[in-house]
Amino acid sequence: MTSPAAAGRPQHAAPHPEAPVKLWFCPNDALDPRLAADLARHWLDEQEQQTAGRFLFDRDRRQYLAAHALVRRVLALESGIPEAEAVLWRSSRGRPFLRKPVEGLPRGGRELDFNLSHTDGYNLLGVVRRHRIGVDVERLDRDDRGFEAIVETFAPEETAWVTAAAPGRARDRRTLRLWTLKEAYAKARGLGLGLPFDSFAFTLAPDRGVRGFRPPDGEPPERWRFAELEPEPGVLVAVAVMTGSDEETVLEVHRGFPWSRQAPRRLILPQPVEALC
Ligand SMILES: CC(C)(COP(=O)(O)OP(=O)(O)OC[C@H]1O[C@@H](n2cnc3c(N)ncnc32)[C@H](O)[C@@H]1OP(=O)(O)O)[C@@H](O)C(=O)NCCC(=O)NCCS
Repeated sequence: MTSPAAAGRPQHAAPHPEAPVKLWFCPNDALDPRLAADLARHWLDEQEQQTAGRFLFDRDRRQYLAAHALVRRVLALESGIPEAEAVLWRSSRGRPFLRKPVEGLPRGGRELDFNLSHTDGYNLLGVVRRHRIGVDVERLDRDDRGFEAIVETFAPEETAWVTAAAPGRARDRRTLRLWTLKEAYAKARGLGLGLPFDSFAFTLAPDRGVRGFRPPDGEPPERWRFAELEPEPGVLVAVAVMTGSDEETVLEVHRGFPWSRQAPRRLILPQPVEALC
């Protein structure tokens, strides 16, 4: 496993007073399929059960059950609302939200935002106690490669950076690094692919990390922090978090299904140094 600490400045110091951004990376293998089905039967709501029942292939159903058991488990740990009692609703663009009780969350606070991503065999869930989060996970060995079509959606400076790399693995990696970041940002905004991907741009460090961010017109860049991780070789993860402009943003990375509370890895998300306006 590539250390996620490589993605940012490692942090072993005292906890930051701001609530950290929490990330769960959960391979499907972390949850036995029969157990996932049992949990889903008890935890998922009627609509989720119906969605699970519509998959033609067991592989896809397994992915869905693992992802949505993860969502309900993590939301229960974070909010104090039991797994089966959490009410999830979706925006007109499909973004899920937790309905918060008017009296506040049982574990304190009123705010909680989350975002889910899943790809063949892996699930990723991000949670923040205020503002917004978007996450994306993609595999470099994805079956439906389509890398060229992806690059066509990029801003010109991003396309130039991608095509400066040799065709093959190096170019694919650049493509997916940008794609995961763009998806994470668009998902944090709740717009998904409805946000034109050439209306904003990232400048990336050679190996990992966001150096610059040009937001869509009218969006201040300093409100956003980004992280890139590679929790397993060839599995690329991106996180986009909206913050107050001067807050230090700490990311806690958890791995596996959250049966119990384990010590996470802690990283600091740097502010992109170049605001590319
Ligand atoms: C969000 C979107 C980019 C997801 O792309 P993807 O790479 O296939 O999927 P990922 O695995 O990264 O993420 C999927 C998860 O994102 C979440 N999601 C769905 N829509 C979302 C949105 N608009 N914003 C943020 N997150 C969203 C869901 O939890 C979804 O998983 P689930 O359906 O199992 O609950 C894509 O579905 C999209 O653009 N949706 C918006 C569609 C839209 O605008 N519809 C308007 C009505 S026509």
